[in-house]
Amino acid sequence: MRRWPSPSYTGTVIDTVSMRRSRDLPDDEDADVDFHERLAALELAVVSDRLGIPELATTAERRRSEWEHDATHVREAAVAVDATGRDVGAWVVDVPVRDNLDTADVQVLDPPLSAVTDSEADDLHAALLADALATVRRHGRHVVFTHEVLKEVVGESLPPHVLEPVAGGPADADLRFAVVWDLPAGSAIPARSGSGAVSRSDRSVRRMTAAGFVPVQLERFSVLDLIDSGGTGDPHPSLRSVSWVDDAPVEWAAQLADLYSVFEATVPTGGASFDPEVWDVARLRAVEATARAAGVVRVVSAVAEGPRLLAFTVFEQTPGSPLVFQEHTVVRPEVRGLGLAAAVKRANAAHLRAVSPDAVTVCTWNAVENPAMIAVNTAAGFRPWAFTVLWELRLDR
Ligand SMILES: CC(C)(COP(=O)(O)OP(=O)(O)OC[C@H]1O[C@@H](n2cnc3c(N)ncnc32)[C@H](O)[C@@H]1OP(=O)(O)O)[C@@H](O)C(=O)NCCC(=O)NCCS
Repeated sequence: MRRWPSPSYTGTVIDTVSMRRSRDLPDDEDADVDFHERLAALELAVVSDRLGIPELATTAERRRSEWEHDATHVREAAVAVDATGRDVGAWVVDVPVRDNLDTADVQVLDPPLSAVTDSEADDLHAALLADALATVRRHGRHVVFTHEVLKEVVGESLPPHVLEPVAGGPADADLRFAVVWDLPAGSAIPARSGSGAVSRSDRSVRRMTAAGFVPVQLERFSVLDLIDSGGTGDPHPSLRSVSWVDDAPVEWAAQLADLYSVFEATVPTGGASFDPEVWDVARLRAVEATARAAGVVRVVSAVAEGPRLLAFTVFEQTPGSPLVFQEHTVVRPEVRGLGLAAAVKRANAAHLRAVSPDAVTVCTWNAVENPAMIAVNTAAGFRPWAFTVLWELRLDR
């Protein structure tokens, strides 16, 4: 583990930082490993601070592997180092190269720092963001997305079931957000999705709006403690559940790729300026290979009617980690509202327990304007933990 130098630091952080950029790294493995470890340490500090679940942070090994194997994105990052040699922040830019050729995703990593005032931290965040945007421009992209964790959610802007805790309710200490009500006029900015609003009293909102970003979509981050929820059974006499780990069996690959396209075309995006990805078997195989190379296990269940898949859901887990990520769930539009999402999720939870004794907690993100998915998840026992917001910025051409 890399140690940060001792805190002899007293200057204004922004005046002293220098940037170490991935694109300037020497072509040698040690430098690459060191860079990714520093990035991972910064992300760990940020995720622990904002979400309180360190396992959510991307490990250095996983990020290195994704950068090397995922041919659908080009990635760059930079670590900001202060005069004492301390790593004080970073940014990561993801540029899609297969679809959405005018967009880029930016992640700013600004961990809590000792001996730095709030306004210095704001300046550092702004400097990191500006540096990341320069890279976005260099790639010729004009639409920028970034996710931030909210400290406050505006109560009356959300459908009531989104805030609803399950029976017993989460302990207050677990919640990473405060619900604010009755804000003065002009203090809340509605998300473009039409569901949810952000509050100008939230520090991250002030930072992002100052940089020209607009809030597009709020997402609820929720967690589920895995318990045995009982039998699964087939969802209907003419349907059957099928499950696998990692790569889809050959007979299901084309159907699974098609379901990914259905997901992309029908998941709520809040009106964000990106196009649905179109999947084929080659793309599916590339995603499966990237996961395998990064040591990520994919635990998949689907509902089949004859040779056709009607629904699927996937968990991702790094073996040994207690944390499991609930990734895509989709049901074909013509059979929605019949309980298939709930059935396929139950089947996959049982499959997960059978294949992964390490799994303890599942986490998921849901758009707040997706009542069906939130209803299914609430019934399964997920409880709200935090809220994030997707921000969008349009850069001048
Ligand atoms: C979300 C999705 C998977 C739900 O699939 P489904 O098979 O229709 O879901 P189910 O029939 O199992 O359950 C739907 C539940 O949501 C409820 N629901 C459906 N539409 C609703 C709405 N507009 N408002 C409130 N609740 C709603 C249903 O009443 C049901 O709850 P119940 O069992 O308590 O009655 C499906 O709509 C879909 O594929 N959407 C596009 C992809 C997507 O958004 N995936 C999730 C991304 S995180």
